[in-house]
Amino acid sequence: MERDLQKAYLESLESQTSTSEDKNAKIWVVASGKGGVGKTFVSSSLAITLSKFGHSVIVVDLDLSGANVHTSLGLKPSHMNIRHYFEGVKTLQELVIPTPFPQLSYVQGFWDSWTPTDFSYAQIQGLIPQLKSLRANYVIVDLGAGALEPHLELFKAADEKFLVTTPEPTSVEKTYRFIEAYVCHALKADATPDAYSNMISTLRNHRQRTLQKPFSFRSFLKDQNGLNYDFFEALSSKPVRLVMNSSRSQTNADLGHSIKSVCNKYYDLGIDYVGPVNYDNAVWQSIRNHEHVLVAQPFTPIAGQFWSTCKQLIDPEELRAVV
Ligand SMILES: Nc1ncnc2c1ncn2[C@@H]1O[C@H](COP(=O)(O)OP(=O)(O)O)[C@@H](O)[C@H]1O
Ligand SMILES: [Mg+2]
Repeated sequence: MERDLQKAYLESLESQTSTSEDKNAKIWVVASGKGGVGKTFVSSSLAITLSKFGHSVIVVDLDLSGANVHTSLGLKPSHMNIRHYFEGVKTLQELVIPTPFPQLSYVQGFWDSWTPTDFSYAQIQGLIPQLKSLRANYVIVDLGAGALEPHLELFKAADEKFLVTTPEPTSVEKTYRFIEAYVCHALKADATPDAYSNMISTLRNHRQRTLQKPFSFRSFLKDQNGLNYDFFEALSSKPVRLVMNSSRSQTNADLGHSIKSVCNKYYDLGIDYVGPVNYDNAVWQSIRNHEHVLVAQPFTPIAGQFWSTCKQLIDPEELRAVV
């Protein structure tokens, strides 16, 4: 069955004319500071929504500690998985598996590895161009939790960067830590070692509240040689897009605006608050029924939230015409 689907998928690729498929795929990366906050749910929902718009989409499961994109899509895990890419047996494109949903395919994550798996910086450097050259309009990368270096590197390379949190303080705290780690990681690439270690020790003093005034990346970078201020400015133009998942009230939803304000005030960093995604029992109930909630119930408020998020990002003019 899997083999038949794969064959049909490869044949459909062959028959595609060389138009938009020749261009690089847009990479959307979904990350979080804390685990279990809904990354996989958000990744799969963005993918289903984009595919319903008629775009070809591939979800790549890069959660090495607990791949479950297949579960979220209501599918059985495939024997062919990203392990075969990392072992050099297959190219990433050869691992793309079609799903029963039109225009939606995925790359199965690790699930047949009985020892801990990690990817190195070099492996990620090699993976990024492979992701871009996948034959699809959009590639959605579902990461594992935490501000690990490979996650930050993928986040940096993404065309769109989604950071998922829930309203719980534990999640919000780890969201701030992720944002700080991302800024530092992005700046490190162009920094001299001295300037970078000076910045880290200043941040540590800030955390221990031994600075005269609140730390601001912008003013710190302006005064420092050896750190790229323009690059910091550029970070705001490709903003982190915050998603407040499992929101149960207006207060929960508003927390996203507060996080955005804090990032502005303390880091001088412009992030984008995409908005809340409601808590809905139907989400986990549909997973239990092996059917994604956006497929089982396509006209719920949650479906509308993903619809407007995707429209806003890919077609803002059309959205303005509707509202
Ligand atoms: N908005 C939501 N409403 C209700 N349950 C949710 C929601 N988002 C996620 N869940 C449930 O929370 C659990 C963790 O979600 P998951 O997407 O696997 O998180 P992560 O990928 O961050 O580990 C799953 O059981 C999922 O069904
Ligand atoms: Mg997950």
